[in-house]
Order: sequence, then structure tokens, then C-alpha cells
Amino acid sequence: MKTITLLPGDGIGPEVTAAAVRIVEAAGARFEWESHLAGSEALARIGDPLPREVLDSIQRNGVALKGPVTTPVGKGFQSVNVRLRRELELYANLRPVRTLPGVPSRFEGVDLVVVRENTEGLYSGLEHTVVPGVVESLKVITERASTRVARFAYDYARAHGRRRITVVHKANIMKLSDGLFLECARAVAAEHPEVATDDRIIDALCMQLVTTPERFDVLLMENLYGDIVSDLCAGLVGGLGVVPGANLGESGAVFEAVHGSAPDIAGRNLANPLALIQTAVLLLRHLGLADEAGRVDAALARVLGAGLRTRDLGGSATTTEFTEAIVRAIELG
Ligand code: NAI
Repeated sequence: MKTITLLPGDGIGPEVTAAAVRIVEAAGARFEWESHLAGSEALARIGDPLPREVLDSIQRNGVALKGPVTTPVGKGFQSVNVRLRRELELYANLRPVRTLPGVPSRFEGVDLVVVRENTEGLYSGLEHTVVPGVVESLKVITERASTRVARFAYDYARAHGRRRITVVHKANIMKLSDGLFLECARAVAAEHPEVATDDRIIDALCMQLVTTPERFDVLLMENLYGDIVSDLCAGLVGGLGVVPGANLGESGAVFEAVHGSAPDIAGRNLANPLALIQTAVLLLRHLGLADEAGRVDAALARVLGAGLRTRDLGGSATTTEFTEAIVRAIELG
């Protein structure tokens, strides 16, 4: 039986991960779940918010399902999420975005995927004061990281029946850095004639995304653009509370929702588990369990289409009511 590392996290994390596990199992997927602490509880009990055994577990199992983890503001430990990405070199961030029945949004027919380079660009942390009042922040783009994330995007497109990749850049201004990113993507594109490729300048793309988002399929971009555009895209389909996410690398893949630990509603059975359930669907597809993933998708569409929603989406269902409705929809087929 396949083993999956489970990081319930804190705040609403344990509630939404329990919901996702329940639904994955109802859909017929059989996993051994290896549960680990992360965050402040791990710090208190084990002395490290991201204990070595968590990293070992993800590397051994190759896959983790993770709930949100609270990061102390201004003091305390470094973000567990940032450390996980660094230590496991999870270089590709995947953010699929699609309109869901019954979830209020401005558009219909949106079904796109943002692939974001996760390790460099302006997030390399290379900043310094040149003279007082003047700061430099270095944007690092390498052939290696650009090529590897482009390979990921094309492999993903091929494996998931996606037809077109749009490479997003500002190479008209940042001719060397974004120029290199674009050049690497084009070189990988040449190895994949089965996937159409085009490119857009980031500002024009943003305008097109908020007018005709249904035109896009896969968007490939460097770190900062990806950070901003993936949240913009979440806004096209109902916000950060409904979209899934994953961070992937050679040594493992961590599937996690985009929202945080929502301490204001933790432990009150009010959390919307939709984002983590959709994240679990991504995980199922990553493991090649398309039938199980399809069952969850169909049940979600039926339950949302019938108007059942949690409080954050204007409904009144509790976490467990929403979860059990999906389980029943799966069982009814
Ligand atoms: P947040 O996403 O936790 O909450 C923002 C607002 O959205 C709150 O009103 C919350 O109640 C609501 N909300 C979020 N998820 C919800 C859900 N599933 N169902 C219903 N309502 C939901 O963002 P915030 O408050 O900025 O961060 C709280 C903590 O979470 C911080 O410590 C932050 O560092 C951490 N965080 C962790 C992430 C992760 O582990 N991947 C990602 C983002 C934030």
C-alpha cells in the first residue's frame, strides 16, 4: 500500500486535512498515512518546527499532503513552508484554477494552470544597501532552474492533456534575465511539438486574464510573476479559499492548499475544506489515480451545484456537513 506523509498543521489544518483524508478514502484510494507534527507544536515537543523526520518521511514516501502551518509574525521560527521548499528543493509550484459550480465568481469556463519557478528570481534573498538610501535587490535567473521548470511544465501538460503553454515574461525590458528564461522555455518547447507554445509580456497577460481568462491553458513564469499571477487567477474563480496547490521537486511533492491556518475560526467546525479536497484530487492525479480523482470531482460538482456551501462562501454548512455530503455523493456514484 502506498504511504503518504500527512502534515495536519495547526489552526484549521487538522479539520481540513481530516476532511480530505475522509474523502480520498471514500473515493476508493487506499493509503497508509504517516502523520507528523510541524510548526509550533513540533518546536515544543521535538525542538524544531520542521523536524528532520518530516523531511525524511517526505523523501521516503515521495508525496505529502499538508495543512496550513501558522508562522509567528516578526519573531520566532522561520516559515515551515519556506523551509520545506528550500530543503527539499521543491522547484515547481503548481496552481490549477478552474470555475466551480455554485462558487460565486465573475467568469465561467476558466480552466488554467499556473506553473511558477519556485527557487530563484527576485526571491534569491540577495539584497544590499549600496549607499544609504539606495538598495539593490538581485534578480537571479539561471539556465538550469529555468530549463528544469520548463521541463516540468511540458511534462505536466503532456501528462494532463493540456494543449498550450504560454510563457510569461518581460524580456522586452529585462532582456538578459527574462530573455534567458524565455530562451530556455523555447528550447524545451522545441522538444515538445505536441504542445503549442506562445508567450506574453506579463502586463499584457494580466489585462487579458481579467477580461478573457478562459483563453488560457498553462502559464509558465518565473518566481515573482508566478506569485502574483497565481493569486490573481485564484481571484478569477472565487478566491484563495477554493484553489489547490502543490510544490514539486525531484525528491518529493508537497500538496497543500493556498490559504492559511485561519486561527479566527480554528476548532469551530467552520473551515471550508474545499481547497484541501481539491488539493487531494491533484495528489490523486499525481499518483495516476484518475478514476478516484474523477469520483471526487464529480461529487464536488454535484454538491456545490446543489447549493451546499460553507459560511465563507455565503452558505451555512459546517466542515463536517460539507464533507459528509461529498462522501454521500461519492457513494451514490
Ligand atoms: P488565512 O488564509 O489563514 O486567513 C485569512 C481569512 O480567510 C481569515 O478570515 C480566515 O478565517 C479565512 N479563511 C482562510 N482559509 C479558510 C478556510 N479554509 N475556510 C474558511 N475561511 C478561511 O490567512 P492569514 O490570517 O493571513 O494567516 C494565518 C496564518 O496562516 C499565518 O500564521 C500565516 O503565516 C499562515 N499561513 C500558512 C500558509 C501555509 O501553511 N501554507 C499559507 C498562508 C498563511
